[in-house]
Amino acid sequence: MSQSKRVSSLMLELDPLSIVKSIATSEILISGRLVDASNATLFGKVISDTGVHEIPIIYKPIAGERPLWDFPDGDLASREVAAYQINKFLGFNIVPFTTLRDGPYGIGAVQQWIEIDEAFDLITFSQTDDFRLREIALFDAVINNTDRKIGHLLMDADNKLFGIDHGVSLHSENKLRTVLWQWRGMQLTEIEVGQLQKFISERERITVSLRNLITVLEVDALFARVSSLIDAGIFPEPSEEWPAIPWPPI
Ligand SMILES: Nc1ncnc2c1ncn2[C@@H]1O[C@H](COP(=O)(O)OP(=O)(O)O)[C@@H](O)[C@H]1O
Ligand SMILES: [Mg+2]
Repeated sequence: MSQSKRVSSLMLELDPLSIVKSIATSEILISGRLVDASNATLFGKVISDTGVHEIPIIYKPIAGERPLWDFPDGDLASREVAAYQINKFLGFNIVPFTTLRDGPYGIGAVQQWIEIDEAFDLITFSQTDDFRLREIALFDAVINNTDRKIGHLLMDADNKLFGIDHGVSLHSENKLRTVLWQWRGMQLTEIEVGQLQKFISERERITVSLRNLITVLEVDALFARVSSLIDAGIFPEPSEEWPAIPWPPI
């Protein structure tokens, strides 16, 4: 049995709360660095609180963040966590569990690792009108994602789709950059509008949860985006003022 199959069959026996608790509190053991990552992105594991399971994780220490011209230094990890929280408040399960915590290289974002289905053709899939992609397109409009590449979509062996790498999102100026434009200008469904309205109605609680992650200006911009989505009733259209597709798109 391969290492990945062994890990995922063991994961089946672990309840989600135990996974979350272990990722948030157990010691992080690093085993490697992801070479295709643009920042210091480390692969490792934590041992479950029960002491028997290994939970694979990805750890992005703030100290390893590369400065960017259009985002403040040293806060990509906070944006990753803010994006996770927003995904939960929307009632979506797009982002794997992500938390901000201390690790061997200092404070960073720690996220549950998803074992992907290597045989799955994400490139073709990414341009379909699959409902799971549509949910991610709406999520990206909410978080103002500037980097929804095909490689930031993950399909696991149970056919569950995830979105990752939300460090460059939540800017106060509109910068939506994505490969998922297939719903541009299309009507939001009643369910989608309801999800956005519920988000607005929980503004106070959401603001508290984002308080130490993004600025007040960015929280205001988040709610302004959600309100304009509700008012417009449609998915955003690509802007002509900034590049609307990430480069490279994969
Ligand atoms: N939670 C995860 N589960 C599985 N693979 C991941 C996860 N997070 C990142 N990866 C893999 O690591 C690569 C680099 O991670 P990413 O979050 O894109 O880092 P960076 O911010 O450096 O671009 C991704 O393209 C993906 O292949
Ligand atoms: Mg990336």
